[in-house]
Amino acid sequence: MKRYAVIGQPVAHSLSPTIHKAFAEAAAITLDYQALAIDAADLAARLAALHGEGWAGFNVTLPHKQAVMALCQDLSDAARRAGAVNTLIPTPGGWHGDNTDGTGLVQDLARLGVTLAGRRVLVLGAGGAARGIIAPLLATRPASLTISNRNPWKPEALSEAFADLGTLTPRTHWALKGDAFDVVINATSAGHSGAMPPMPEGLFADGAVAYDLSYGKAHLPFAEWTTAQGARTVHDGLGMLVAQAAESFRLWHGVTPDAASVLALLRAD
Ligand SMILES: NC(=O)c1ccc[n+]([C@@H]2O[C@H](COP(=O)([O-])OP(=O)(O)OC[C@H]3O[C@@H](n4cnc5c(N)ncnc54)[C@H](OP(=O)(O)O)[C@@H]3O)[C@@H](O)[C@H]2O)c1
Repeated sequence: MKRYAVIGQPVAHSLSPTIHKAFAEAAAITLDYQALAIDAADLAARLAALHGEGWAGFNVTLPHKQAVMALCQDLSDAARRAGAVNTLIPTPGGWHGDNTDGTGLVQDLARLGVTLAGRRVLVLGAGGAARGIIAPLLATRPASLTISNRNPWKPEALSEAFADLGTLTPRTHWALKGDAFDVVINATSAGHSGAMPPMPEGLFADGAVAYDLSYGKAHLPFAEWTTAQGARTVHDGLGMLVAQAAESFRLWHGVTPDAASVLALLRAD
């Protein structure tokens, strides 16, 4: 039986095994999918050993998404642009690294009927997840793409790094005062500490949609803030999680799974 896993530390909480087993069952594919806890210090040696043991692929989660890049034999454009790898595919000589996070976000927004083309899009946060979604967001041809962050240098750096793909307006959160957006995407991890960063009022244009990469309890502060600020709808990032997994599944198996039905299963739990 082909063996797959999500690697990270900690990783026991990961929903990836549940998601991939559900995809496989629906596609009548037999596989084993585990969660493997690997310490950062052991990453290089473990990946080499796992390759030798014939594992068929890995998803990569925190804290290894950036570090694993240097251990790949080659990288997809998406991984290179994102500066991170979330999917590993074995090659005869090592690992091919890919990144499906940005595709997952854009696919989930499409599933929700959120149009990006011609819209004013704001991304809050400029960490690893924000970097991973910029190229796919620019490819949808928004009217504008603004990145705001607590640390002012990170959006500036992203704006330079992606200049060949389009214009990215760098801001601090407070410098957004007076601007309005049609789609507001939260890519900060602030919700994990139970709070929204302080933000100016009036960022939501009429009918604006809000999307949070976080889900579960970490989504609640953004949900409360966006609702109070008049967003028409707010979505959590569980759909993105399932959609990025679906794209990994497609890369491994050549089959596009039904992300929506697996998302419905997770929501019912
Ligand atoms: N749904 C999915 O499939 C999916 C996929 C990937 C990531 N995510 C989620 O996306 C979020 C971001 O992940 P990441 O990998 O980008 O993390 P990261 O690289 O650590 O970046 C964290 C970002 O959040 C900001 N931030 C953190 N705490 C803050 C606070 N108290 N106030 C203001 N800003 C704060 C940081 O700002 P500074 O630069 O100023 O520190 C930075 O921009 C996480 O919640 C993660 O779970 C979801």
